[in-house]
Amino acid sequence: MTEQEAVKQCRLIGTSNTGFAQQAQEEIRRLFGSAVFTYIVPSEVFLAELPVDREEALRLLQANEPMFLRHIQPVLEEIRWTENPESVTVEQAEEIYAKLSEWLIREKAALAGKKIAVQIRRSSLAPQAIGKQAIKEVADAVLAEQLGSELVVRGSEQIVSVYIGKDRIYAGYSKPEENLSDWSGGAVRFQKEEGQISRAKFKLLEAEQQFGFSFNQFHQALDIGAAPGGWTSLLLERGLKVTAVDPAALAPQLMKHPKLTYLKKNAGDVKFEPGSFDLLVCDMSWSPRMMAKLVDDLLYAVRPGGNLIITVKLLHKKAFQTVREVLEVWEGSLQLLQAKQLFHNREELTLYLLRV
Ligand SMILES: C[S@@+](CC[C@H](N)C(=O)[O-])C[C@H]1O[C@@H](n2cnc3c(N)ncnc32)[C@H](O)[C@@H]1O
Repeated sequence: MTEQEAVKQCRLIGTSNTGFAQQAQEEIRRLFGSAVFTYIVPSEVFLAELPVDREEALRLLQANEPMFLRHIQPVLEEIRWTENPESVTVEQAEEIYAKLSEWLIREKAALAGKKIAVQIRRSSLAPQAIGKQAIKEVADAVLAEQLGSELVVRGSEQIVSVYIGKDRIYAGYSKPEENLSDWSGGAVRFQKEEGQISRAKFKLLEAEQQFGFSFNQFHQALDIGAAPGGWTSLLLERGLKVTAVDPAALAPQLMKHPKLTYLKKNAGDVKFEPGSFDLLVCDMSWSPRMMAKLVDDLLYAVRPGGNLIITVKLLHKKAFQTVREVLEVWEGSLQLLQAKQLFHNREELTLYLLRV
């Protein structure tokens, strides 16, 4: 390796949903050729060493939004300890905090006077003596008092990310858009509402954020596999007319909604006027192939230019193949705009598509 090539390297922490780190690493490998990975939390959080500089890494990741890699944070500084995590004392923890403060001060040029969000994560294997709250207080104090930065939670100019691992702290800073998600670890949080019908609603809310559209732009939605009605309730709240199809019952509080049509049927047994809908959503936890066929049979009812949000059930070992097979069924009728395993997806992934 020449000296110039040796300098071209960057380190980042990647996070996926639990059990999908292998897929996230595969996406990185496809983009960068070689990469070295070390797990920080098995099957979920890992350190990636890439054979390119930081600008090139970000450029490629932003141009090729990964499906399984949910969040990245740069590693610009590592503060290590040699003791077993259980042996790290409170005094040693204080030394580590002091080193973190020194690093923040050294990065003054990038951080001083800016709006800064501090995001701290901690492995369950991290020393008891090193706490998230203590790190937050140290970082906040340096940033606010010594660097004159404004501390914010959202809408920051820079995010300072600290990950407390088993044998070291990884620290870095980046612009929010460089992290793939501006939520800490990509863990998007929504407030649970009084009387909320299902947690599935969060998936649809997250899809809206992730894919960058607004449900308010649609008028007539078809929701197949709608029960108990979390997705339908969100679409109704946003003013859409909704046709909900499911042999299972919808939540009673939805039934009298003036903009709801409920068809208590299998989605294979319904018929509509062509082009009746500008949005089709589908959250059936069903065989991907059967779901794809079922949606395909209903595509005549979605007008060209309309959109679809579809959950695809995944088997870990065949995740990429499953997505490929599903898309093949719709070839020529639907264009994939983005595929992402959302924080609120479990063993599944969400597709955002355009009816062509
Ligand atoms: C995960 S639940 C959907 C949750 C819903 N999105 C919500 O927010 O409450 C999956 C639903 O798909 C329905 N389903 C499965 N196969 C179906 C089919 N062939 N036609 C219509 N609905 C179906 C099931 O009855 C079940 O209610």
